[in-house]
Amino acid sequence: MTATADGKHALPWRVEELDFSALDPAVVREDETLFFLLVSASFIETGADVYTSNLLDYYGNDAETADWLAGQWEQEELQHGRALRTYVARVWPEFDWQTAFTRFFEQYGASCTSTQFEATPALELAARCVVETGTATYYRMLMDYVREPVLRQLLDHIRSDEVRHFKYFYRSFRHHQQTARHGRLRVAGVLWHRLREGLNEDGYIAFHHAYAVRHPGRANDGATYARFKQRINGIARRHYPYTMGAEMLLTPLALPPFLRRQGVRAVGSVFRLAGFR
Ligand SMILES: [Fe+2]
Ligand SMILES: [Fe+2]
Repeated sequence: MTATADGKHALPWRVEELDFSALDPAVVREDETLFFLLVSASFIETGADVYTSNLLDYYGNDAETADWLAGQWEQEELQHGRALRTYVARVWPEFDWQTAFTRFFEQYGASCTSTQFEATPALELAARCVVETGTATYYRMLMDYVREPVLRQLLDHIRSDEVRHFKYFYRSFRHHQQTARHGRLRVAGVLWHRLREGLNEDGYIAFHHAYAVRHPGRANDGATYARFKQRINGIARRHYPYTMGAEMLLTPLALPPFLRRQGVRAVGSVFRLAGFR
């Protein structure tokens, strides 16, 4: 990847290069579940600049990671948000994305603080691997589910960015581990903690605000969200890459091959049973 004149890195792909003229909105427009999955993702991706500034504070002494976070990672995450928002606007032009996002961000931005970070930079990098595992597998699942070609192309671009982010955070974690030397149990605790956190809050806040704007006046409570999750679980059972998710999740534990195979099988089964919560 090359640096541009302003010191930022060129993006590996650009929203403007997608051929939206090939899109037939009628193919996806009736898919209400897909609408909420895309809008929720667009909200969380668009909030990336908040995490970046928090992470930059945290990695202030690590110039290489700080440079990558600001120069590449943030730019790519923000583009994910822009690309998803653009797609939603093409297919569901009546949806007031900005209003819903503003409400989402008021609640969500307040919960993103530096105090949420793990105890050491190495452990926080392991936690970032969990987040990127979540996004890489989420977009992989959607790509497998969706048949509309423009969206598939878009999801493929995002998915490959997320896998690359995972690899960067993992390499950086290994580097920090040379001095931090956290034991497997400690790392496993962080992975578990971040996994549970990711499955709970973010998705609910995003869905809640998107639903309120799309269906004003309709009941928008825990039961509404539970029905939505049931539909996601139906999609996940057929399209979620369970083995890929388990393999990525366990990578920071650096298990010996036999244990790793067993672990991937066990975690994959737990994911299948647990579904999206
Ligand atoms: Fe992203
Ligand atoms: Fe990412």
